[in-house]
Amino acid sequence: MKKIMYSKFGGPEVLQIAEVPIPAVQETSLLIKVKAVSINPLDWKIRNGEMKLMSGSKFPRGIGIDFSGIVEETGTAATKYTKGDEVFGIMDVFKGEALSEYITVKEKDITVKPQSISFEQAATMAVVGSAALQIFKTLVDLKKGTEVLINGASGGIGMFATQIAKMGGAIVTTVVGDSGIQAGKDWGADFVINYRNEDVLKGNKQYDVVIDLSGKMPFSKAKQIMKHSSAYIHTAPGPKEIISSFFINLISGKKYKLLMLKPSPEYLAELADYAESGIAIVVSKVYPFNSFKKAYAEVPNGKFIGKAAITMDGLV
Ligand SMILES: NC(=O)c1ccc[n+]([C@@H]2O[C@H](COP(=O)([O-])OP(=O)(O)OC[C@H]3O[C@@H](n4cnc5c(N)ncnc54)[C@H](OP(=O)(O)O)[C@@H]3O)[C@@H](O)[C@H]2O)c1
Repeated sequence: MKKIMYSKFGGPEVLQIAEVPIPAVQETSLLIKVKAVSINPLDWKIRNGEMKLMSGSKFPRGIGIDFSGIVEETGTAATKYTKGDEVFGIMDVFKGEALSEYITVKEKDITVKPQSISFEQAATMAVVGSAALQIFKTLVDLKKGTEVLINGASGGIGMFATQIAKMGGAIVTTVVGDSGIQAGKDWGADFVINYRNEDVLKGNKQYDVVIDLSGKMPFSKAKQIMKHSSAYIHTAPGPKEIISSFFINLISGKKYKLLMLKPSPEYLAELADYAESGIAIVVSKVYPFNSFKKAYAEVPNGKFIGKAAITMDGLV
């Protein structure tokens, strides 16, 4: 079978198609024929070597964290699914290798794909949807009227976070670029700010929650627009942020919180329910498998709304 692999850290050019055996199913695992794979910033941060501390430096390695597909075979002790079931799910965040014709997973890593969404949509939900859920379930106390600012809201986490915060009763302000304004409105934001012609830090409004998804608004800046007892969420923490947040939280009422994604079957089930109930899942670009290098070259700079994915359809 075909699988995308790389043997050194670097740009999209290090990615290659490898011919490898179909992985063997163990007693408690399932073999999935992959239909589509999501493209995430974590993919290129790991591939570039920016996250060595967490990802390790073992090669060769695969790429791709969340996926959709069809159950092909089940281990003798994996009884929850049967051959032919359509599913979506998530692999180990730092060791994902979903961009492959077949993968093996555990039952806890997948859930049933809602019929109402495409394989491409289903593939893109697990990482960004779980991240949004984790923020609102474990880092932030969302109540009716909570003022939430989402900086960098036109991408994957922003799409889910905007809609989930609105459903939780929050008043949501999103900061997006030119191409994200309509999406911000469509996803229900109460206020949409275009970062290209307005600086949210210069506004008069104070927020209960500031979520930075852009990597461009550190706590030191965000605190200007945070209420006294409020929370800032940093979504790409490294050692520096872990140390700073520890000391800041000892002395400040403005809390500095870090997102460290811990996928769970409950998040997957909740995302499937959201999809059934019609939450917007925008996949603005789908690449064929053979265009994998182009995909990983374009998406980091692409100004895509929502998500981008790679489809395995057409692969012979
Ligand atoms: N810690 C964890 O466990 C975890 C888990 C998942 C993801 N993450 C991280 O979370 C972050 C967000 O993920 P994502 O999937 O939502 O990424 P994404 O889809 O790339 O979205 C990022 C958004 O930031 C916007 N942006 C860029 N420059 C901006 C600026 N100056 N002001 C405001 N917005 C700006 C981009 O808009 P334009 O297109 O207009 O540039 C884009 O919509 C990434 O860093 C990712 O690695 C962390």
